[in-house]
Amino acid sequence: MPSTKNPSDRFLPVTLALSAPALAILFLLALLHQIHAGVALGGGLAVLAATGLMIRKHMAELMAAETLARSLDDAAVPPLTVPQQGWVADLASDLARLRTNWSRELRTQYAVAGSHETVLDSLPDPLLLLDEKRRVVRANLTARKLFGRDLKERDLAQFLRDPEVLDAVGTVLAGGPGQEVPFESPGSVMRIFLARIEPLPVKALDNAKALLTFHDITALKRIEQMRADFVANASHELRTPLATLSGFIETLQGPAKDDAEAHDKFLAIMHEQTSRMTRLVQDLLSLSRVELNELTPPTSPVDLRELLQSVTDGLDLTAKSKQEILILSVPPNLPRVIGDTDELTQIFQNLIDNAIKYGRLGGTVTIEARRIEKGPMTMGSEARQDCVSVTVVDEGEGIAKEHLPRLTERFYRVDTARSRAMGGTGLGLAIVKHMVNRHRGALQIESTQGVGSRFTVFLPRVSDDGQ
Ligand SMILES: Nc1ncnc2c1ncn2[C@@H]1O[C@H](COP(=O)(O)OP(=O)(O)O)[C@@H](O)[C@H]1O
Ligand SMILES: [Mg+2]
Repeated sequence: MPSTKNPSDRFLPVTLALSAPALAILFLLALLHQIHAGVALGGGLAVLAATGLMIRKHMAELMAAETLARSLDDAAVPPLTVPQQGWVADLASDLARLRTNWSRELRTQYAVAGSHETVLDSLPDPLLLLDEKRRVVRANLTARKLFGRDLKERDLAQFLRDPEVLDAVGTVLAGGPGQEVPFESPGSVMRIFLARIEPLPVKALDNAKALLTFHDITALKRIEQMRADFVANASHELRTPLATLSGFIETLQGPAKDDAEAHDKFLAIMHEQTSRMTRLVQDLLSLSRVELNELTPPTSPVDLRELLQSVTDGLDLTAKSKQEILILSVPPNLPRVIGDTDELTQIFQNLIDNAIKYGRLGGTVTIEARRIEKGPMTMGSEARQDCVSVTVVDEGEGIAKEHLPRLTERFYRVDTARSRAMGGTGLGLAIVKHMVNRHRGALQIESTQGVGSRFTVFLPRVSDDGQ
């Protein structure tokens, strides 16, 4: 607590101290009978009064200066009223200027520190500053989200138990060079990071000695894996018919050289294998083309009535071979959709072809187009209002629930052997999904085992004014 002395508390002792020599002389003179005691008393009082009068102003100034000094670092001390003139007034104005500059500088420093904190917190990668004993000096927001809120002062090993990262941190803190090591975050959703540990060149005020950052490479790893899987799948799909072809060529050149019956049989198989390779290469090309164009949606109006009619006509023979009936239903006032004729043809060819292939022998495949009030959420708020849907319904065995989310992955089939036997490439639905995405539409797959499947494509329509 700062002392709050009243000027009068000091006034009396100081007055007495200053008057003491004169009072002592008067007292001595009275003692020696040089002057009358009454005169000595009167003189003493006069000396006291005169001294008091003389020092009053200076005492007040001194007290004011003292309060002023105290008020510099004590916010509880009220702003003092200093004399308008004199040395205390000068001192006060100098100090006031000093204080203003000092406060401004302090505010700037706080702002700088605050903005550094904000910059650190807005970094997408988790970041930790460590002192020489491996304790956390600072952690940004993403680091706190990843490792927990109270990280300050904690040893890194208490919340990060990865020996490789801890070893690398140890090396850097011991004066070694910067390091990079992979790190997998624990938790229900595994994430893969690249942990970087860098020594800080100059020891910072907060004792930070090393900087530890984590760069999330989960998506990159996933894409890498998908690419590797895709190449492996595509080469496998191409190798199988190639192996069959070369086997038959060898047979035709060797043991079956002069067997006319075998020639016809083998050539038919070879023809089927080359068609299969052609289909596969065409599907692969379609897929890469649509992936390239996916960000530029089509803009032309397309009449689905004509398009669906020509697709069903084209597949009529295939349906008949399975004794299936195709029923197409399009309302007369169906609005046109915004689309690409070739891609829409391919979408419905794939879906109707699947419905025939995986449908019931002697069953019905229904293709129904409709105008609907609202499409699914995935379409985007504008495109889903008042759009068009086309549903392809079959009466086949249906698809088990666990397969539904994966059907549109490349080369994913419920029954690979069956799909291959029927000439499938396993790419049809992947192509459909990408083409529907390019149209800013949506694909919905519903299926009940033993009843059949429904594949619905939602497409944005051309607005009434033709835009
Ligand atoms: N209408 C359907 N009924 C049952 N299963 C289907 C249907 N459509 C697709 N599937 C399943 O989805 C898989 C992937 O389809 P798709 O990509 O068109 O490949 P493909 O037809 O070449 O096998 C098929 O292999 C099949 O298992
Ligand atoms: Mg297919």
